[in-house]
Amino acid sequence: MRALLTSKVARRALRPIAELIDQRVERQVRRVLGESARADVSQQELKKLRNRQRPLELFFDGTGRGASRLPSAPHLTRTITELAEATGRDRDAAERNVAQAFRLLIAMEALGVGRIAGGTMNIVGKLSAVPLLDPPNDEILEIGTLYGMFGAALIRMMERAGRAPSLTIVDPLAGTQLQPGTTMGNDASGTPVNGAAVRTNLALVGAAGAAARIQQGFSEDPEVRALVSDRSYGVIIVDGDHSAAGVAADLEWAEQIVAPGGVVVLDDFGHPKWPGIKEAFEKHMAGNTRFTFLGQVAHSGYLRAASA
Ligand SMILES: C[S@@+](CC[C@H](N)C(=O)[O-])C[C@H]1O[C@@H](n2cnc3c(N)ncnc32)[C@H](O)[C@@H]1O
Repeated sequence: MRALLTSKVARRALRPIAELIDQRVERQVRRVLGESARADVSQQELKKLRNRQRPLELFFDGTGRGASRLPSAPHLTRTITELAEATGRDRDAAERNVAQAFRLLIAMEALGVGRIAGGTMNIVGKLSAVPLLDPPNDEILEIGTLYGMFGAALIRMMERAGRAPSLTIVDPLAGTQLQPGTTMGNDASGTPVNGAAVRTNLALVGAAGAAARIQQGFSEDPEVRALVSDRSYGVIIVDGDHSAAGVAADLEWAEQIVAPGGVVVLDDFGHPKWPGIKEAFEKHMAGNTRFTFLGQVAHSGYLRAASA
C-alpha cells in the first residue's frame, strides 16, 4: 500500500490534492498570523491611549485632594433631582447651576491652594443650591472654612446670579483641620491651613473675595460670636465642629443671627462618618425653632428661617 502511494504515478495523481491542502494550510497560517499581528497592534494602541489619558485624568482624580472629581452620570442626575426638590426650582435651572458649579470646582482646585473639603456632588450641590434658594440678603457666614476655597467659589456662584455677596469666615486656622474627638492626618493637598492660604483663595474671586472678613477662632467662643454677630445673615454655612455638641451650639447661634427667610446649610448632613450632625439637627428641630427643613442634596441639609 505504502509503495503504491509513493509510486511516481500515484504522486502525480495526488499532486492537485496535495497542492490544495498546502494552499489551505498556508491561508490558515496567514490568517492566524494576521490576527495576532492585529492583536499586537491593538494592544500597542491601547497602551498609547492609556498613556495619553493619564495626564487628562489628573484634572479630575483624587491625587492631591483626596476625593475624585469625576462623578458618574447617575450621581449627577440624582443631584439635579434633589436640588430641584430642595430649592423648588425647575430642572433646567438646577442642571445649569450643577454644570457651572462643577466647572468652577475643578477650576478653583486647579488654581487655588489646598482644596475644597468633601465629595464632589456635595460641594456642587451647595454651590448650586445657595443662589437658587434666593437668600433674603447677601451676607454669608461660613463657620469652618479650611482653605477658604468653598467660600470663594460661593462668592462666584452668587455673583453669577446677580448678587453682591459679602462673606464672613470663622475658623481657628490652626495649621491643620481640627475636629474634636478625631485625629485628622496631614491634608491630602499638603498645604497648611492658615490665613495666608484663605486670602490667596479669596483673591481668586476678585473684589468680593478680597473684601471678605476672616475671624480667626472657634464659633462657640463668646468673643468671636460678639465680633461676628454685628449683622443678620442671609446664608449661614455650618461646617465647623462636626460633633453633636458643636453642631448643636452652631444651630443655636444661627437661630439668633440668621435673617428672616435666611438659609442655613448643614454640611455633612446624614454622612455616615459624622453622625453627630443629624443627631444635633433632630434634637434642635424637636425644640422651639425658626427653621423649616427644605431638603437634602448629597450630604447637605437645607433649612429656611421663618420670614419676619
Ligand atoms: C470640614 S472643614 C470646612 C470645609 C470648608 N467649609 C469647605 O467646604 O472646604 C472644617 C473646618 O472647621 C474648622 N473648625 C473646627 N472646629 C471649629 C469651630 N468650633 N469653629 C469654627 N471652625 C471650626 C476646622 O479646623 C476646619 O478648618
